[in-house]
Amino acid sequence: MNIAILAAEVAPWSKTGGLGDVCGALPGVLAALGHRVLTVSPRYKEYADADDTGVRTYIHLFGQRHEVRYFVARTPAPEAVAGDAPVGDAPAGIAAPGEVRHVFVDHPSFRRGGIYGDAHGSYGDNLFRFALLSRAGIEAAALVPVFRPAPGTADLAPLGEDVVFHVNDWHTSLVPLYLDAIYRPAGHFRRAGTVLGIHNAGHQGAFAAHQFAGLDVSSRWWPHTDMNGHLNLLKTGVVLADRVVAVSPNYAREICGELGFGLGHLFASRGRELLGIVNGVGEEWNPATDPQIAAPFSAEDLSGKLACKRALQAELGLPARDVPLLALIARLDPQKGVDLLMEILPWLMTQDVQLVILGSGSAALEQQMREMEWNHRDKARGWVGYNEGLAHRMEAGADLFLMPSRFEPCGLNQIYSLRYGTVPVVHATGGLADTVETLDPSRDRGTGWAFRSFSAGAFMDAMGWALLTWWRFPDEWRAMQRRGMTQDWTWTRSARAYERVYAEVLGLRG
Ligand code: ADP
Ligand code: GLC
Repeated sequence: MNIAILAAEVAPWSKTGGLGDVCGALPGVLAALGHRVLTVSPRYKEYADADDTGVRTYIHLFGQRHEVRYFVARTPAPEAVAGDAPVGDAPAGIAAPGEVRHVFVDHPSFRRGGIYGDAHGSYGDNLFRFALLSRAGIEAAALVPVFRPAPGTADLAPLGEDVVFHVNDWHTSLVPLYLDAIYRPAGHFRRAGTVLGIHNAGHQGAFAAHQFAGLDVSSRWWPHTDMNGHLNLLKTGVVLADRVVAVSPNYAREICGELGFGLGHLFASRGRELLGIVNGVGEEWNPATDPQIAAPFSAEDLSGKLACKRALQAELGLPARDVPLLALIARLDPQKGVDLLMEILPWLMTQDVQLVILGSGSAALEQQMREMEWNHRDKARGWVGYNEGLAHRMEAGADLFLMPSRFEPCGLNQIYSLRYGTVPVVHATGGLADTVETLDPSRDRGTGWAFRSFSAGAFMDAMGWALLTWWRFPDEWRAMQRRGMTQDWTWTRSARAYERVYAEVLGLRG
């Protein structure tokens, strides 16, 4: 299949959270399964490994014609597929089937430092920027020659028009609209299909109604974009995409109600065309091979994990003590429920534990993290900022991982935690409920604790059980760690599920 993944973030080039992780990892796995895969994202800055393709296009938006240029990078597929081996050191711009091509849309409005905004808030022209990405993303499939049509051929061809557009969140939600309103009536992309990935229905791309005029489509499309008198990009995707895929089955159910943030009835109206697929985890999160941690370890031999704990304590200046080490890593956004942790902090700090929080975002929470460290120098650290290496070392060195999210479409850190034998304590919402099962020693089941009500009491209760189990039942603890570590969270499982959805939407228009 020809698959174009369009997103505001594609790691490692751009990432603020899990969206970037997913759009960086899924393409490679799909390619390894034998598909031709293109990602399209903005060129937010100069990328050393991406070259100008020389291809240009002109897009009409907000009453003007805008030139965009396409850059392209190449990463080999993670596993070569028999008969479809990647072409080794081929110059930029050349790919065999079974490879991913990463295309970057270049326009001055993207090159600003931030992805969505800066210290003053969201960029004022985000509607323009992401409408431009959506249009340029569609055209990339038809215009940018990056694939060999067949093994051994020298000439390059674009991905083509018989393609599945897998668009993600509100940023690329206009793609189904543009296909219907502009491209299909002109005879293009007649058989293309669309899949809208929902990573967070809390952000919808809502803009003032008068801005609709800038989108360059006829006013008869207004009802598809109108949400209570506002232009709402996510809504447009929800009603027009061929299939809607939330990043976990539980979240797919939740967005049909309150967690649809006003779009619940529209999600529900999609019936069986709305489904949930849990994200996977890439090989960079494997404790047996992770180069960023002090010592490797695995379910069979956990001894390296203690070395990682000691190294983490040393790095953070915490005493090298045998007490439960708790970790939390998150964007400090109300979604993540860090305020609930702050609520139980006075109690938690009466316990014999160590606590490390890594995160940035809300200024108020950053301040609370600093105060926590100041008041509890002997047991707590609050690391304000973004630190990928520390995130790995915390996953490896901690005993417990805390994720009290108010809502969590999928969540990746609890899955990394399962892999690293770091037992998760989570609020049973969204993907957290799908991935973490509460310990039931009588049935040898469970990989952590998932508390049901979003309340300090329920969180404290779960923490109480977790700490008791760590202190009193070490064999039970190790068995629980091993159960989590041996579960299959590879991307291949999720990619197979996406394959089925793509095949369906490609079949829809013959
Ligand atoms: P979300 O996408 O809502 O932020 P996820 O759990 O899906 O939540 O993904 C978050 C990703 O961002 C993970 O890879 C996590 O390790 C990373 N991350 C978040 N905050 C930080 C930070 N301060 N430092 C390092 N990594 C972070
Ligand atoms: C969003 C969600 C998170 C999910 C990620 C990747 O950022 O908040 O739960 O894991 O997208 O799908």
